[in-house]
Amino acid sequence: MYNIVNLLFFSIVLFNAIRASSQDSSSPSLLILGCGLDKGSEKDVDGRTWGPDDKFLQPGGNSIKSKASFQDPSLLDVVPYMSARVFTSETSYKFPVQPDKRYWLRLHFYPSVYGSYNPSESYFSVIANGGVTLLSNFSASITCQALSQAYLDREYSLAPLNTDALTLTFKPNDKSFGFINGIQLIEMPELFDSVAALVGYSGQTVEVKSLHLQTMFRLNVGGQYISPKQDSGLSRMWYDDTPYIYGAATGVTNQAEKDVKINYQNMSSYVAPTNVYSTSRSMGNDKNMNMGYNLTWIFQVDPNSMYLARLHFCDYYYSKVNEIVFNIFLNNQTAQTQADVIGWTGGKGVPTYKDYVIYVQDDAGEDQLWLALHPALDSKPEFYDALLNGVEIFKVNDTNLSGPNPQPSDMLMKAEEEERKFETHKGYNKNVVGSAAGGAAGFALMAAIVCVAVYRKKRVPGSDNHTSWLPIYGTSQTTGTKSTMSGMSTNSANLTAMAQGLCRYFSLQDIKQATNNFDEPNVIGVGGFGKVYKGVIDNGVKVAVKRSNPQSEQGVNEFQTEIEMLSKLRHKHLVSLIGFCEEDDEMCLVYDYMEHGTFREHLYKGNKPLSTLSWKERLEICIGAARGLHYLHTGAKYTIIHRDVKTTNILIDENWSAKVSDFGLSKTGPNMNQGHVSTVVKGSFGYLDPEYFRRQQLTEKSDVYSFGVVLFEALCARPALNPSLPKEQVSLADWALICKRKGTLEDIVDPYIKGKINPESLKKFADTAEKCLSDHGIDRPSMNDLLWNLEFALNLQENPDGSTKSATRVIDESEFEDISLGNNDMANHYKNLSLGSEHELSSNKEDSSENSTAVFSQIVNPSGR
Ligand SMILES: *[C@@H]1O[C@H](CO)[C@@H](O)[C@H](O)[C@H]1NC(C)=O
Ligand SMILES: *[C@@H]1O[C@H](CO)[C@@H](O)[C@H](O)[C@H]1NC(C)=O
Ligand SMILES: *[C@@H]1O[C@H](CO)[C@@H](O)[C@H](O)[C@H]1NC(C)=O
Ligand SMILES: *[C@@H]1O[C@H](CO)[C@@H](O)[C@H](O)[C@H]1NC(C)=O
Ligand SMILES: *[C@@H]1O[C@H](CO)[C@@H](O)[C@H](O)[C@H]1NC(C)=O
Ligand SMILES: *[C@@H]1O[C@H](CO)[C@@H](O)[C@H](O)[C@H]1NC(C)=O
Ligand SMILES: *[C@@H]1O[C@H](CO)[C@@H](O)[C@H](O)[C@H]1NC(C)=O
Ligand SMILES: *[C@@H]1O[C@H](CO)[C@@H](O)[C@H](O)[C@H]1NC(C)=O
Ligand SMILES: *[C@@H]1O[C@H](CO)[C@@H](O)[C@H](O)[C@H]1NC(C)=O
Ligand SMILES: *[C@@H]1O[C@H](CO)[C@@H](O)[C@H](O)[C@H]1NC(C)=O
Ligand SMILES: *[C@@H]1O[C@H](CO)[C@@H](O)[C@H](O)[C@H]1NC(C)=O
Repeated sequence: MYNIVNLLFFSIVLFNAIRASSQDSSSPSLLILGCGLDKGSEKDVDGRTWGPDDKFLQPGGNSIKSKASFQDPSLLDVVPYMSARVFTSETSYKFPVQPDKRYWLRLHFYPSVYGSYNPSESYFSVIANGGVTLLSNFSASITCQALSQAYLDREYSLAPLNTDALTLTFKPNDKSFGFINGIQLIEMPELFDSVAALVGYSGQTVEVKSLHLQTMFRLNVGGQYISPKQDSGLSRMWYDDTPYIYGAATGVTNQAEKDVKINYQNMSSYVAPTNVYSTSRSMGNDKNMNMGYNLTWIFQVDPNSMYLARLHFCDYYYSKVNEIVFNIFLNNQTAQTQADVIGWTGGKGVPTYKDYVIYVQDDAGEDQLWLALHPALDSKPEFYDALLNGVEIFKVNDTNLSGPNPQPSDMLMKAEEEERKFETHKGYNKNVVGSAAGGAAGFALMAAIVCVAVYRKKRVPGSDNHTSWLPIYGTSQTTGTKSTMSGMSTNSANLTAMAQGLCRYFSLQDIKQATNNFDEPNVIGVGGFGKVYKGVIDNGVKVAVKRSNPQSEQGVNEFQTEIEMLSKLRHKHLVSLIGFCEEDDEMCLVYDYMEHGTFREHLYKGNKPLSTLSWKERLEICIGAARGLHYLHTGAKYTIIHRDVKTTNILIDENWSAKVSDFGLSKTGPNMNQGHVSTVVKGSFGYLDPEYFRRQQLTEKSDVYSFGVVLFEALCARPALNPSLPKEQVSLADWALICKRKGTLEDIVDPYIKGKINPESLKKFADTAEKCLSDHGIDRPSMNDLLWNLEFALNLQENPDGSTKSATRVIDESEFEDISLGNNDMANHYKNLSLGSEHELSSNKEDSSENSTAVFSQIVNPSGR
């Protein structure tokens, strides 16, 4: 048992109360230092007080206090990031500690220009107690760049040091300098006193208690982001696990029933908060399907190092031994056979965790850590399933935790540089409204970052005057990236995509023939990028041809990347790129032709929509679009955030199937370690996520917000913004929420469909749309849940009496063609997946799986069509 008094010290709510003692160097429990602060201590948005660091500095070094020259819009607060201590020679801090206690050490870095010190020239090491290298040749600037974030935090857990002081030495490289913005040193309960099996060396174990750790990943599996405030007292951040799941086989997520209590028994609740244990991911209900795949997560790590994987389990559904038994693999080696959570914990709702240590070698390209689960059959368990609630990955080493700097891609570097120039030029120094929203900051949990960021260019509003390449129809009001025509050879574009056979090359002659020599009557859209023509290729296949404006500054580079990106994204509900042409300074992109234009035209166009869609048809279009977006979020190798979801970007083909278009603003989203991508606000007004606006942080939930507006648009058939209406009605999002809360939503429903909507269906739909418009991203549903709810609403419309037998059509078998695990089995598998209680369908797993077969579909298809 832990000493309760001691533990209370870690409670966030007590931070303020303890503040006094933190100022007092004789009390070592909690130190929160804002380095380089000049006026004593300062409070951050969370009300935490950051004290001055001066008195912990040891004599002998050279350091100065400095202020950052520029506040990045993504910084939640000025404290501790806007002030820094800059080290021009080796300098140490000395902090009092208790010799037998473990400590969290969190280091905060904001690589900005400090006086005459440019962060890109800063390389330094950080060494604890003379013998433990935490960072070496560290460049905060390069690391942040690779992560595409403005600041970064590193978290370490230092094993008891057996001395009464922690010396933290900052050692600049030759002719360089070091810096630090904030230091947190927090005494922690001993959560690492286990003896972990060393995977791959049978019988060998590792005593974790004496190891120093660096946090690499911390995930709430099957659940949502948990902020430092929501953590069980140790101010950790837990991220969603979706970006780390391998392939199409994502299993299903579940949540504990409200009446199930997480019972920690004699385990400390500091191990992980209840939110971690009350959500999980499992494989699904289909034995055969489950036997055919491994539920797998992949983490990027530094090779040549040892890692501790802590897996958190809690079965809040079953309560008997031998119901679910599975094997656990780490990097294809067996870490655990016959894992039986109930067998370990003795009961339903009781959490536990298991530690495994694995050495990741530096074989060819082996910078990944694979965690895989698979049903174990030896004991003939009742269900062939597997389960995981949370996972933490720590790097362990007793002398050196540092790794190499990541390598940002050239393209990313260039884009960032341009943006920096722009921002510095403009003196971009807006104070971001911090609001109560902020937790501390995103931990840079990983060390090695693969350069996923090829397309992750930041886009700057107002920096240019042309739209991106990709809007196909209409005039997009959104603008793309500035990029200058580089001196690249004109034919550079037809390399990669073509080499990979992903995309077809058209000669200029082909294109001219297809569009009748760019005949004006064939123009179906115009934008800053040029015109879009309707065309016919291959004797009858209709296409949309986007031709670059010869005056457009759009660079060859951009042309090329977008071709590469688009040609890899294939999904039934995304507009496909068929090919491109590049000849004689002409650049054209050729897309599928969308016979029925935009969704918006069919809802309202002036006062006369092109057609009147029934409620069912609208639902089907929304469902199609949601599938397309879901694919962008989870189906491609990296999360892609659309950033400009609106009814004009949802196109409709000859069969009335919806396809999402215009990825011009897309950006690879939170992956690896970030909960968000910080960026400059972008998108169309009326659809803009307020949180994104406030915090300038982009998550896939920003798309969910915009999609919520689309849903209300489909219901009410009016524009997202209509300035001609009375003030409170101008914004559809606001007005719909007001009406919904007043119970008058029906009054604003499109008169064409009013009265023809099943009330249950309307309720489900409106509830779902309302949730999408939640102020905070974490309160919004995932695209997956959203999809499920829409399908449910459709089902209610079609089967108002509640019978579900006739509802089999909702699943579109073709959706599952080519899915990597194989065709129809997969379709059946998905039909049979069980639903978590969050879906409000049934409290009984079996019932729900049978009765919901028709309404549920999981739609990940990375291999595309
Ligand atoms: C927790 O309780 C179980 C049984 O109730 C016991 O076997 C185990 O030793 C206890 N662990 C600790 C750390 O007290
Ligand atoms: C500790 O780190 C060093 C340097 O990175 C590495 O060579 C060594 O293999 C690591 N040791 C363990 C046990 O991971
Ligand atoms: C594990 O096995 C898979 C499939 O055989 C392979 O693709 C992957 O590279 C392996 N991972 C490691 C870390 O060995
Ligand atoms: C699951 O992973 C293990 C270890 O890598 C491997 O041996 C096994 O073949 C995998 N099973 C499937 C169905 O992929
Ligand atoms: C620690 O490890 C890093 C990366 O492996 C290496 O570059 C550095 O030289 C090591 N430092 C020490 C003191 O061993
Ligand atoms: C330090 O890091 C930079 C950037 O990653 C690299 O170019 C340089 O070679 C490194 N220097 C040393 C001494 O490792
Ligand atoms: C943008 O382009 C339009 C039409 O090409 C032109 O009239 C306008 O002046 C341009 N705006 C800027 C800021 O360059
Ligand atoms: C690139 O385009 C040219 C026409 O401009 C074509 O002749 C050449 O074959 C293309 N390259 C490839 C690899 O197809
Ligand atoms: C529309 O449906 C028909 C008949 O099912 C099919 O042949 C055609 O390919 C479909 N068109 C598109 C664009 O999917
Ligand atoms: C799915 O469930 C149905 C009954 O609910 C069953 O008949 C069918 O065999 C299951 N499909 C598979 C692939 O197991
Ligand atoms: C669906 O639920 C009903 C009760 O609500 C039950 O009688 C029936 O067996 C369930 N399964 C199917 C396939 O309808």
